[in-house]
Amino acid sequence: MVKNYGPISPKVDRILHGADYNPDQWLDQPEVITQDYALMKLANCNVMSVSIFSWGALEPEEGVFTFEWLDEIMDGLYQNGVYTILATPSAARPAWLSHKYPEVQSMDERRVRRLHGGRQNHCLTSPIYRQKVNLINTLLAQRYKDHPGLIMWHVSNEYGHECHCPLCQEAFRTWLRKKYNNDLDALNKAWWAAFWGHTYRSWDEIESPSPIGERSIHGLELDWHRFVSAQTLDFYREECKPLKDITPDIPVTTNMHDYVHLQRGLNYWKFAPYVDVISWDNYPYWHTPEHPNYVEGAQRAFIHDMNRSFKHGRPFMLMESSPSATNWQKVGKLRRPGMQELASMQAVAHGADTVQYFQWRKGLGGFEKFHGAVVDHYPIPGTRVFQDVSRLGGELAKLGEVVGTSVQPDVAVVYDWENFWAIDGAIGPRAEKKDYFDACTRHYEALWNRGVATDVIDIGSDLTPYKLVVAPMLYMIPDGYGEKIQQFVDAGGVFVTTYWSGIANENDLCFTNGRPGPIREVMGIWSEEIDALYDGESNGVSGTCKEFPLGDYQAEIFCDLVHAEGAKVLAEYTTDFYAGYPAVTANQYGKGTAYYIAFRSYGSFLQDFYDEVMREHGIKPVLDIALPQGVTVQKREDERNVFYFLQNYDDAAHMVELPAEGFYDVLSETKVGQFVELPAYSYRVLKPVEE
Ligand code: GLA
Ligand code: ZN
Repeated sequence: MVKNYGPISPKVDRILHGADYNPDQWLDQPEVITQDYALMKLANCNVMSVSIFSWGALEPEEGVFTFEWLDEIMDGLYQNGVYTILATPSAARPAWLSHKYPEVQSMDERRVRRLHGGRQNHCLTSPIYRQKVNLINTLLAQRYKDHPGLIMWHVSNEYGHECHCPLCQEAFRTWLRKKYNNDLDALNKAWWAAFWGHTYRSWDEIESPSPIGERSIHGLELDWHRFVSAQTLDFYREECKPLKDITPDIPVTTNMHDYVHLQRGLNYWKFAPYVDVISWDNYPYWHTPEHPNYVEGAQRAFIHDMNRSFKHGRPFMLMESSPSATNWQKVGKLRRPGMQELASMQAVAHGADTVQYFQWRKGLGGFEKFHGAVVDHYPIPGTRVFQDVSRLGGELAKLGEVVGTSVQPDVAVVYDWENFWAIDGAIGPRAEKKDYFDACTRHYEALWNRGVATDVIDIGSDLTPYKLVVAPMLYMIPDGYGEKIQQFVDAGGVFVTTYWSGIANENDLCFTNGRPGPIREVMGIWSEEIDALYDGESNGVSGTCKEFPLGDYQAEIFCDLVHAEGAKVLAEYTTDFYAGYPAVTANQYGKGTAYYIAFRSYGSFLQDFYDEVMREHGIKPVLDIALPQGVTVQKREDERNVFYFLQNYDDAAHMVELPAEGFYDVLSETKVGQFVELPAYSYRVLKPVEE
């Protein structure tokens, strides 16, 4: 049984519904604010994330604080039934701060210091910036600590930049000294610095990577990424300190990036222990010609699951999403009717206890004046977007019992930032299309299509809760991880990995015992070479095993040349000089099985493969029903309730046959028949009928 985690704040036991609210743009128009309150009610909103970029309005001159407007806003919201998630304003600073203290301005990789402007571009180390942030955070916490509307802190905004200034270089060296116990020799070895004679003779010679400097040492690149994560976390923790001291009962979050940014950026796993409630900002690409909506749906589901997994199942927050177009995307496509609500409900289906938008009201000028918002420039409630938002708000109000529920999957997919950095940074085996994120989500998609609940974990995560662990492109195997996988399989676990795995250790130094290095024995194979294919090229692959039937497929981009060393061959290559080499293998090891997929395939292979794995190892979907392509089902539960979220991402309607026991539709409050019709971009929230 899955326990109930309780609501995010004891003050509200409903799903939170709201938006980023930046009213400091309308302080000279009080009627706009009054209208906002009325519209928030109509939109069924109960929360706003307030003053995320308001430092300039809160401290217009150094040491001169003007909190009065914020007092009024928080009071006004509260009187209108809307709680406040209060932001700390460090993401965007007032101009006086940059001008008076140039050290707060970050430097780019070419060591060029920024001019004032934009946001999320401060130095991560500057003592002055940290002091100034500490002061305003302290004043905010002192002033609002007893405000009845305050339910949470929103610390800064989408951390994720780096700074290469002299202060950060010094901090990097200090971090390295600590990591390598002051042993420069150990660093040189870990970084393979003797290559091209780049051995460091003094700590002071070390500089962060730069396009006009060092780019050839992969250990340096990796450690720099790790340092940026650590330094950002350090900055975040310092920001939190006054909040934790003054308001120990108010939970703290920081909103994490969308995956397009997340692919580089920060290792959020390092943040998770220090964030009370995880929150993230979701900006999908619906209706793109690049892939069907259900592929986008699976990728989004993957990130939702990762956010739920950060805290081992604790519900998270959908902190931002566009209720309409996303103006910074290449094409600001409108959501087709239904998609806005479906995308919001998807978050809830995967464990979110909030649906929030960026943003409440569109500004009249500036960078985001064409970004989707609940209230448009013509601020009437009759717009399509506003109507969709308020209808969804009405539905969320019926899902009070969903709050705090979660899911305990038997399956996990490994997505690891350090592994990503290493794959991305390596020169070879192809310059492009290494696509680690895409590779992971394709495996995930095959499970999502079948309604299998899945966690998304990293290399540091415990494997013992799972029956099946999938780790595509596990290039980097840090010390000890090979043994962990071996023990997992030995004890009965099912493990799947692919081409380009077991190549290097945590310093990106290649293994010398034959690939896949530390997991060679458990996989029962040796990968001798890897072939990289040009775009448009392919090789044939055919199933060879009656008990694990696979068809004919095309291998693209990567083909590993593998020898079976005890593993059973389930498919082999049919073309090129490696025709007859194993393409898929299964190795019995102890009580478990380890599968190796030697090639990349964009066709139906992964679906066929995972269908067989599910059958062979009894991996069950959350609901035993046949799902048409584009339709999935997710589950949330606790000691008392089970909710099924049936969702259709396809552009056409589909009929789904439910199990005979009978279901109740929580939103329409009616019993449903055995056949449920799901129009394009629609969902149903179902509960089993109680006898
Ligand atoms: C990010 C930011 C928001 C806003 C949105 C627009 O997620 O956090 O402040 O700029 O993008 O999509
Ligand atoms: Zn700096």
